Amino acid sequence: MSKFYVTTPIYYVNDKPHIGTAYTTVVADVLARWHRLKGEEVFFLTGTDEHGIKIYKAAMAKGKTPKEFVDAVVPEFVSAWKSLDISYDKFIRTSDKDHEERVKKFIMKLWDNGDIYKGVYTGLYCVPDETFVSESEAKDGKCPSCGRPLETVSEEAYFFRLSKYKDRVIELIKKGLVIPQEKANELLSRLQGDLKDLDVTRKSVKWGVEFPPDPSHTVYVWFDALLNYITALGWPEQDKFNKFWPADVHIVGKDIVWFHAVIWPAMLMAAGMEPPKAVLSHGWWTIDGRKMSKSLGNVVDPVELAKKYSADPVRYFMVREKTVWDDGNFSEKALKERINGELMADLSNLVARVVTLAEKTGNLRSGEAELEGFIDFGRFSSLMDNYNISSALEEILIGIRKVNKYFNDKKPWASTPESLSNTLYNALEALRMISILISPFMPSVSDEIDKQLGVGHGAIKDIGFKEFVGNPKRGKNIFDKLSE
Ligand code: MSP
Repeated sequence: MSKFYVTTPIYYVNDKPHIGTAYTTVVADVLARWHRLKGEEVFFLTGTDEHGIKIYKAAMAKGKTPKEFVDAVVPEFVSAWKSLDISYDKFIRTSDKDHEERVKKFIMKLWDNGDIYKGVYTGLYCVPDETFVSESEAKDGKCPSCGRPLETVSEEAYFFRLSKYKDRVIELIKKGLVIPQEKANELLSRLQGDLKDLDVTRKSVKWGVEFPPDPSHTVYVWFDALLNYITALGWPEQDKFNKFWPADVHIVGKDIVWFHAVIWPAMLMAAGMEPPKAVLSHGWWTIDGRKMSKSLGNVVDPVELAKKYSADPVRYFMVREKTVWDDGNFSEKALKERINGELMADLSNLVARVVTLAEKTGNLRSGEAELEGFIDFGRFSSLMDNYNISSALEEILIGIRKVNKYFNDKKPWASTPESLSNTLYNALEALRMISILISPFMPSVSDEIDKQLGVGHGAIKDIGFKEFVGNPKRGKNIFDKLSE
């Protein structure tokens, strides 16, 4: 059986979930569900990144110990993902004891083979981003990525021989590690410059994993965090690790691709392990045309959205409104338009009309498959496998519209009993397949359609016109029209 290992970044817990973190998680969930539907063995990992100076400072600001602080925030992530119907297989926390022990083992492996050495670090550090910034990257003493002021730090530190792996990393990126290609090009041009060894410990930061060769240091938060992708599989234990590693895809926002496509593969190479198969870089959401930020007060809360619209329309909107790798704009107006225009007008009405008539008519088990090929399934599949999720959804919509048109053109309410029965057979089978295909995006809607058709949950192997073995019974509307 083939496997699929998909991950989200692990999120900083100095903030509660927002539309950005929710987006990464929804994309990962859609892919995880899609691969389960194909009958693959899936491991879907998410979790929280809990160490480092940023979290430490956030805890202090609240008058809590770091541990108390993170323990209080993590449940917000767990419940947010529940409200968005996220089907992760594991939720890892970097403060988990077994994670910490495994990080130490990894460090010792690199230490023993000489890829970590002692030196002195002097330089600029961006506290909110937890990143070191070189003089040339800094813009007027500010962080080039977030624009906030940098701090100068100088301390004894341990370094990872990142430079040693430069050529192999370049090779890997050239072979297609990073999606999309523009992002890969950006990394490749950055890699033409100097690639310095990476400071992987901090003496001044106490809230972190102890650095085993020198316990007066803690492990740099990114080094600790990236390792979650293997510690979650139990590494260095082999069972799960052998089964699922390498990851099929790490889904990450465009701001953290460098860590995943340069530093992380180099770490793995140093340990003699395979790099991930793909790093998918996704674009960012702006809110009503502006950057989302606490200071602008325009942070969108995904939990509130799910409460207001229910999870499925929110999930649908996120993966439909923009392609994964581009930036896009979020607005409730656009969300309502998608719901009214696509889900309500095309899908909800179709279910209502077909099921109502089928319930009255009966005897719809077989017939001539007139809607064969109503969805280009091969195309849908390949779009999904290439992360072109929005276009894959377009294929389903085209199919739904075809069924609508077919149903109207056939005028089933005015036709002979045989023709009526055949039309219904086609429409019911089409709906059964539509329900299968939308289930990765809208699992509850799919459940509701199955219920009204009176069929069990389908999978990809059930695609194709067969005998209709259901028992249609009209239930609630799949969607109701939302006021503008
Ligand atoms: N802790 C690190 C990741 C470590 S992974 C080993 C981290 N955490 S984060 O909480 O700051 O960000 C998580 C993700 O949210 C990133 O992928 C980031 O790109 C994404 N987003 C943050 N704001 C976003 C938008 N406005 N829109 C879309 N995604 C955004 O980085």
